[in-house]
Amino acid sequence: MMDRSQLKEKDLQYIVHTYNRYDIVIDHAEGAVLTDMNGREYYDLCSGYGANSLGYRNPAWLEAVIGQLLKVQHTSNLYYSEPGVLLAEKLVTRSGLNKVWFANSGGEANEAAIKTARKYGNTLADHKKNTIISLKKSFHGRTLATVTATGLAEAQDVFAPLVPGFVHAEVDNIAELEALTAEYDPCAFLMELVQGEGGVHALEPDFVEAAAALCREKDILFIDDEVQAGIGRTGTLFAYQQYGIMPDIVSFAKGIGAGLPIGGILCGPKTCDVLVPGDHGSTFGMNPVACAGGCVVLDTLDEDFLGSVREKSDYLRNALADMDKVCGLDGLGLMVGIDLDGMTGAEAVSRLMEEGALAIPAQDRLRLLPPLTITEEELEGVISVLKKVLD
Ligand SMILES: Cc1ncc(COP(=O)(O)O)c(C=O)c1O
Repeated sequence: MMDRSQLKEKDLQYIVHTYNRYDIVIDHAEGAVLTDMNGREYYDLCSGYGANSLGYRNPAWLEAVIGQLLKVQHTSNLYYSEPGVLLAEKLVTRSGLNKVWFANSGGEANEAAIKTARKYGNTLADHKKNTIISLKKSFHGRTLATVTATGLAEAQDVFAPLVPGFVHAEVDNIAELEALTAEYDPCAFLMELVQGEGGVHALEPDFVEAAAALCREKDILFIDDEVQAGIGRTGTLFAYQQYGIMPDIVSFAKGIGAGLPIGGILCGPKTCDVLVPGDHGSTFGMNPVACAGGCVVLDTLDEDFLGSVREKSDYLRNALADMDKVCGLDGLGLMVGIDLDGMTGAEAVSRLMEEGALAIPAQDRLRLLPPLTITEEELEGVISVLKKVLD
């Protein structure tokens, strides 16, 4: 195996430099603990950016994935295959929406949502319309359309010209959303109910309800981006289930794959038959290995398990609330955003790393996204590390 400095040198030489990495080489992992190449252990409060929902070496998931790998690893969408159909049935049953389209990532899922909304607005709505209103501080991906939809104004100009037809509204400001709706006549609203990259902010329930009412009144599609918040992360399978609304499209990714690339959209009655053969596709979409693993994720995330996610969230949040440097908590469930006194999120991440936990910043905040399967014992360990830095 390469030593650390050789590996870093070759990474810089051979890999396009789109990421500034932390100075850690991950070697292996178990449960909610990562081990670096020197044998140092870290509690995982990042979960591969929210993707490793079941932590590491989950036996049921490994068995399903390896079993499917040994049967057939990929089929293409030219033929029928069982794992994708089983996963779609589970997603539809648990969500109350009607059909699924499978992709490989969150950005690709949101592209499918955007294309569905555009086709709906251009051909099926009460009149032709195709503008999409998303929110400031939102993050929807890195493809050209999802970069345009993203409301975090980071370095977008260098990719000009961006995709036309996107407008950004203020977070939690229904008066502005109404005014922009009157001005731009949108075909869809696109929002994360719990904004991730924008700072782990759970949208105000009144705002979400009013936006959903506006959608019903004006034949606007409600697209709920649950790429980060979905699949149990917030303590329910999807965050919209806590907001009492029913979106027309829900995009999901990260947690459903438990570490394998998969994403997709769930479509409701207005949107489930909008895309037809020839409109859209993805070579690896509905990959049987990823879907076999996804079935285990959904079977694991039953009501008891989701209750345990809420309990772990309460326990963690109560412990955090008692720490001296914590001056505010946001987000939902095990998607935790922390306002810190006298410390940025990035500074806290560096200090936590020294003490043995890997977390991530979200704007000025500290963000925690532990695996949903984190045990009570691991959580105790996490809290004692957090205390060293935040108390
Ligand atoms: C809310 C949200 N949407 C979309 C994406 C893009 O997902 P991906 O990186 O899988 O394309 C992310 C990724 O962090 C996200 O948090």
